[in-house]
Amino acid sequence: MTGGPLVLGIETSCDETGIGIVRGTTLLANAIASSMGEHARYGGVVPEVAARAHLEALRPTLDAALAEAGVALSEIEAIAVTNGPGLAGALMVGVGAAKALAISLGTPLYAVNHLVGHVGADLLDGEPLELPTVALLVSGGHTSLLLVRSLTDDVELLGETIDDAAGEAFDKVARLLGLPYPGGPEIDRAAAGGDPTAIRFPRGLTAPKDLERHRYDFSFSGLKTAVARWVEAARERGDEVPVADVAAGFREAVVDVLTAKALAACADLGVPRLLLGGGVIANARLRQVATERAAAAGVALRIPPLSLCTDNGAMIAALGARLIEAGHAPSSFDFGADSTLPVTTVQS
Ligand code: KG4
Ligand code: ZN
Repeated sequence: MTGGPLVLGIETSCDETGIGIVRGTTLLANAIASSMGEHARYGGVVPEVAARAHLEALRPTLDAALAEAGVALSEIEAIAVTNGPGLAGALMVGVGAAKALAISLGTPLYAVNHLVGHVGADLLDGEPLELPTVALLVSGGHTSLLLVRSLTDDVELLGETIDDAAGEAFDKVARLLGLPYPGGPEIDRAAAGGDPTAIRFPRGLTAPKDLERHRYDFSFSGLKTAVARWVEAARERGDEVPVADVAAGFREAVVDVLTAKALAACADLGVPRLLLGGGVIANARLRQVATERAAAAGVALRIPPLSLCTDNGAMIAALGARLIEAGHAPSSFDFGADSTLPVTTVQS
């Protein structure tokens, strides 16, 4: 085992209660409880439901993490917690728990940025995180393109979605195709049997005039509306909706835009590295196209294991450990949950 500080990470920004334990860059535990099932009938995450679920899941998830790591709470040397961005009520549960734990254990506390945490996940996959890197983070809550020069001190937001997150678009389109929530895996499965070229759906913010102002930004609400119109028109004609082709065409549009913009950033900035993170990375077609396009462009592609791509506490602990090793002072206890925390603020 490598050395480094023994850090407990707490993540509650959305619907996953994540408690991770690391020693430096060695992963010791990654315990997760998800309230996803409780949101299914609403077709999306309900903030109040998520916050309450965190409250209930925190203690058992903490116990599970300690058991998995084989360490006692008293051995923990520092606590790291996500304080934003995310759902305010959900974040508050983690922040409150982290402060209580840090005070009772007498450990330093690090308030860290959730998005930078996603990049930090790559510290744990056994190979050094090479910088600078472009990072594409795609989940139900975010679609962000970052330039990371230093994990602890220099993270720049290149672009983000101006409306729906990519995962949200998958969830909404699944719903209108009559597929259950979460929609991403369902669309992925349905699309496998479809023809991605049968229906061409629009690629948001890729027209020349949009590329001037929104070169690295994303938009998926127009795509969602285009799919809705197409399906509606088919139903009005009395046609059976070709779910597999619609799913494949939609998935292709999302994947095309995500990978094209991420690789454009690599080329523009002369950064031959691309890191992927977030739950949408589970998408089979996204992984395939990203792999092909990165190889063609001479860009090294890094995809952490899926258990570290979706929201988790281990990535937060890893970022905390890196901050400690970089000599950052602990956060003062007066920080709060910040639902719109900018990605440039790695530590509050
Ligand atoms: O990172 P994540 O687990 O957490 C939150 O955003 O809270 O991401 C969940 C999102 C959901 O929107 C889900 O539909 C999407 O990731 N997702 C996928 C796939 N698996 C999960 N989207 C596309 N294809 C998939 N295979
Ligand atoms: Zn996330």
